[in-house]
Amino acid sequence: MKIEFKEEVKADIKVVFVLNKDLDGSFIGDRALLEKVGFNGADETSALLVERGELYVGVEDEEDLESFRIAAAKAIDVLKTLKIKDAAIASYDKSGADVAKAIAFGLILGAYEFSEYKSKPKQRQIETIYLTAENFYGAKVDENAVRAAIEYAAIVGGNVNFARDLVNRAPQDMTPSALAFAARQVAKERGITCDVYDEMYLKESGMGAFLAVSQASAEPPRLIHLRYKPKNAAKTVAIVGKGLTYDSGGLSLKPADYMTTMKADMAGGAAAIAIIKTAAKLKLPVAIHAVIGATENMIGGAAYKPDDVLRAKNGKTIEVKNTDAEGRLVLADCLCYAQDVASNLDYIIDLATLTGACVVALGEHTSGVMGFNDDLKRSLLQAAKNSGELAAELPFNRYLKKLLKSEVADMANCASVRYGGAITAALFLSEFIKEENLDKWAHLDVAGPSYVEKPWGVNPFGASGAAVRWAIDWLESL
Ligand code: BES
Ligand code: ZN
Ligand code: ZN
Repeated sequence: MKIEFKEEVKADIKVVFVLNKDLDGSFIGDRALLEKVGFNGADETSALLVERGELYVGVEDEEDLESFRIAAAKAIDVLKTLKIKDAAIASYDKSGADVAKAIAFGLILGAYEFSEYKSKPKQRQIETIYLTAENFYGAKVDENAVRAAIEYAAIVGGNVNFARDLVNRAPQDMTPSALAFAARQVAKERGITCDVYDEMYLKESGMGAFLAVSQASAEPPRLIHLRYKPKNAAKTVAIVGKGLTYDSGGLSLKPADYMTTMKADMAGGAAAIAIIKTAAKLKLPVAIHAVIGATENMIGGAAYKPDDVLRAKNGKTIEVKNTDAEGRLVLADCLCYAQDVASNLDYIIDLATLTGACVVALGEHTSGVMGFNDDLKRSLLQAAKNSGELAAELPFNRYLKKLLKSEVADMANCASVRYGGAITAALFLSEFIKEENLDKWAHLDVAGPSYVEKPWGVNPFGASGAAVRWAIDWLESL
């Protein structure tokens, strides 16, 4: 599917956005007919008038770009079921190209479908969506700005879909080695290099926490390190991603109902790969290290156990209380690795589907932002807002930190109390951030929005590619 700007065009279907549920006022369509089919212009609703070649879609609040993204996603959701070649959407752009960008993102993200495992993939494919110069505000559309907005959404949205593809692949196919292979493919693009390390390397470099998680799996672990270093880099950022290609829980086995969807426990890692790919494509003036800890968390005779004591790369010892709190063990060593090998880091951001507690706290749509630096957290929250992703801060406090105490090791891998689990997980990670880097670090828990079982917003069923748009917006703000 292509998205193109065209002054004027006669397409198979004309898409009409109904703003602010305003079916009277300036609205020019057949109000009585729309009322008859029960359409009132609310978010995520539409009315298809086939004989007229018109699709009406609600934009609940025209001041809110997310309303346009949702409307475009809704429109494409309907359009892709029709046997048509093209459709046209008028321009709703009052000033810049923000609305055009929002519409393009909604179309690209909403059109996504993962059908690799379907023996009979759906045939119908709409070829082109036109954004036209027809403008409901009577203003002149800035053609170049609209074209640039479409181009931007195609790059970033395309890479959100790339992250979705990585996560949606079945876990027997998307193994740690397969993820490393995908990362190597990404590194073929200009400006990116890739190093992949195996279990021998983990052993030699003292990454006992990461190694322990991987040791029951028939699939060997991989530490993936992608680098993007533009000549004009103003800042250097490490993005560390949790890449659990499967999380069974280990010996602290997950109940069956909680184990399904755990192929998505690599969503942070997939996002990290997609982010560096996008940054290189956009030629962002920021040096980036993407470090991904890829492994499965399985059971068997070789499995690590509750009561085991592990030694992480920075020498700290960890008592295992629950093998399902594995992401933080993998990340602990990856965070140490990133700080040891990357020089002059300005920021360290980790992305992880880390805790169910974060989903309990914020719901399925919102990521948690944690860290010690208020300015950094603010900039991340702002970037989330700009990008159309949802994020909220979860605050640290001294009492929660004490819950990680262990009688036998430097700390336990999970808290003694079950409340506040998203925050105690982040506080665990902070033990692996060097003192001088504490203010450079933020932890993003994407457990809620990473995988979608009931479509919402611009997200169809499956992986959402959470944090890709968000991180790109943040990197642009540096
Ligand atoms: N991968 C899970 C967290 C998760 C849960 C992600 C739901 C996405 C959706 C993580 O490894 C995990 O199992 N965490 C435990 C931690 C607990 C044992 C302290 C959890 O959240 O229950
Ligand atoms: Zn787990
Ligand atoms: Zn996990």
